This record gives sequence, C-alpha cells and structure tokens, in this order.
Amino acid sequence: MARAIEIVPSVLPLDFAHLGDGLIELEKAGSDRIQWDVMDNTFVPNITFGPDIIASTRPLVSVPFEAHLMVADPDSLLSGCVEAGCSTLIVHAESVVHLHRTLGRVRELGARAAVAINPSTPPSAVAHVLDLVDHVLVMTVNPGFGGQAYISSMEPKIVEVAALIERSGHDVAIEVDGGVGPSTVGGVVRAGANLLVAGSALFKDPAGTAAAVSDLRARAEAAQG
Ligand code: DX5
Repeated sequence: MARAIEIVPSVLPLDFAHLGDGLIELEKAGSDRIQWDVMDNTFVPNITFGPDIIASTRPLVSVPFEAHLMVADPDSLLSGCVEAGCSTLIVHAESVVHLHRTLGRVRELGARAAVAINPSTPPSAVAHVLDLVDHVLVMTVNPGFGGQAYISSMEPKIVEVAALIERSGHDVAIEVDGGVGPSTVGGVVRAGANLLVAGSALFKDPAGTAAAVSDLRARAEAAQG
C-alpha cells in the first residue's frame, strides 16, 4: 500500500518580513505540514531562525510544523523547538556523536523524531535508529540554501534507503528535500519517497502557490501509479 503523498513547503523562500502571511498562504494552499529550516551558520553556511520565531507564528496556522535542524548542536534546540510547536524534529546524522540518544530525547519530549542524511552520507548511517524515527530525510542538495539544483544521483540512494526500511520491518517514511519540483518529483516518488519538501518550486508557478502545491501533488500521485 503506497503511503499518502504529503507536500511539505519549506519556509526558506518566504519573505521573512511577512513570515506570518506567508505561512497562512501556505496553509491555504493545501500544505500537509510546513518545514522550518533551522540553520546556524556552522553546520551549514547560512543562518535563519530559532524557536522564538517559530513560536511567534504557531498561533497563526494549524498545519503541523517540523523543524529541520541543520545545526551543529541540535540537542540544545530540542526542547525549544517542541515548546515552539514543532511536532516533528529532524536531526542530521552528521551533526551528533550520539544520534541514538538524541533521537530518544526527541521522543521523550513527546515529538516525532526523524533523521536526515546529507548527499555524501550512506544509508547505513540510519540503519540502527529506524526503530526511533517516523521518517528518514534524504537530502537531494547540499543543505544551506533554497533554489539549488537537484542532485539526481541521489535517486539510487533513496531506493537503497527504502530497501533498508523494508528489511527492517519498521514503519518509516521517506522525505526528500532539495530541488523537488515538477520535473524531479516523479523520480523521487518512484524511488520511494512520499514526504516532499519543496521551496522555490512552489513560488515559480504563475498560477500561484495553491496551484503549485496541487500540481506537485498530482504529479507525485501519478508517479505512485
Ligand atoms: C536546505 C533547505 C532547502 C529547502 C528547499 O538547503 O532545506 O533544501 O528546504 O529548497 P528548494 O526546494 O528550493 O531546493
């Protein structure tokens, strides 16, 4: 049974001077969840926002928030992001020495845990934490910026992650982030992903964000066959 497709807009392309309005627009456009790209200019060469900004917008929309922790010390942000209203925290396997412990802490805080792997990180990095996570995020760009080119050589890796999950017997979804748009979404879904993070692609459609979300969902569902 194919997992339901979820469209997960990234907040990165929004106008940060009008973040609340952007979130309201994304919710109205039919987003299934919204991804906050938390960056510290250490783990990635960019800096964005933290729990206080996320918390300030929480009352504006009801769509679930997930925090993509592209930071060198995710442990220091776990409770703050959960208190800010994030129901899922995504920890990069590369960002902690004790990944198993950090993911366990996320669950102790009452949030869903997910693990992310950068393009050069092998699927084996998540093999022993699949019992702790709701999803694995496979990066299809080197994280830090929106609007980058999709790295198509990651598609076999998505297939590898799907096979690893299948063998594990755990109920774990696959999310993909980076360069997801009308021309790449089919390959991503056929490789095994159902959670689709999109940033720049949602703001290129002249028909608007809602049309872009609907188009991406339709293409993804068609690829699921
Ligand atoms: C990491 C960020 C971006 C963003 C998506 O760099 O996480 O991947 O969410 O940006 P697009 O969809 O424009 O590649």
